[in-house]
Amino acid sequence: MNQAATLKQWKAYCSFNQAAMESKGQGSRVQSSHPKVLCFSSGKGGVGKTSIVTNLAIAMAQKGKRVLVLDADLGLANVDVMLGITPKYSIQHVFSGERTLSDVIMEGPGGIRLLPASSGIQELCNLNDSEKLFLLNEFDSLEEPVDIMLIDNSAGISDTVMYFNMASQSRVIILTPEPTSITDAYALIKVLSKRYMVKEFSIVVNWTNSSHEAQKIFRQLTAVADRFLGFLSFHFLGYIPKDTSIPKSVRQQRPALELFPDSKASQRIRLLADNILKLDAGTNDGNIKFFWKNLLRL
Ligand SMILES: Nc1ncnc2c1ncn2[C@@H]1O[C@H](COP(=O)(O)OP(=O)(O)O)[C@@H](O)[C@H]1O
Ligand SMILES: [Mg+2]
Repeated sequence: MNQAATLKQWKAYCSFNQAAMESKGQGSRVQSSHPKVLCFSSGKGGVGKTSIVTNLAIAMAQKGKRVLVLDADLGLANVDVMLGITPKYSIQHVFSGERTLSDVIMEGPGGIRLLPASSGIQELCNLNDSEKLFLLNEFDSLEEPVDIMLIDNSAGISDTVMYFNMASQSRVIILTPEPTSITDAYALIKVLSKRYMVKEFSIVVNWTNSSHEAQKIFRQLTAVADRFLGFLSFHFLGYIPKDTSIPKSVRQQRPALELFPDSKASQRIRLLADNILKLDAGTNDGNIKFFWKNLLRL
């Protein structure tokens, strides 16, 4: 479908049935074999989700991965601002038939790609089956495959927060030593485990003074969860120290990993990327298609 596709063309395209698409083998043309999807959420806002996701994306790209960041923060979408890029379109333009998915995905620093989605999230929840199928096919048809997708989710326990968590293979919860951040992270874990049966969580402690403090917070969180939420599995992915390189780079709208590659935060983010990629190597139970299928409930 070309760039100037009209809504009418789009609807016509959508009228293909699933069986026809599958028989043509359109579903898995160019995606790499096991691209991974990680969703980064937090109970409380302002804990460093976007800073971590953008820099992790750069760290992974430096390790040779093809990374796509999905900006899914409904209220405070700012991945683009942090990366110093100005998206012309959002996923909403794909839904309206004005643009293809490849038109909407933007190239960021370090070769990472950004899919601005926040302004189209409500539409994403309300597509009909053929529209869902169309979007899935658009994703599978991207010229450049994706190895890893990082989702910058909204804070809190809204339906959209749950939506992206349920569509991903790995859920990463970010918290800081602030008591409210810890209690809000616990509330998020409680909803995901009790209402959505999520049993595995990866934890990152940001804005901490030491490894010791990060471990202590992790133990506190898991002890309360063990006591009140039953059997859950927690994985300590790592910590990021409080470091001026992060706010300085935000002000310059460049990733800290590029501006201050030797800062303590950058070093820790690279370790975090290693830990996530190791996690990645150990499992192969899902892929981007899994993500879209779950997200779109096909
Ligand atoms: N490790 C850190 N050290 C110092 N400042 C940080 C750190 N992580 C995040 N920040 C600052 O905290 C603020 C909120 O971070 P942000 O990534 O926008 O959070 P969120 O996406 O969770 O709302 C930003 O101004 C950022 O510079
Ligand atoms: Mg953010």
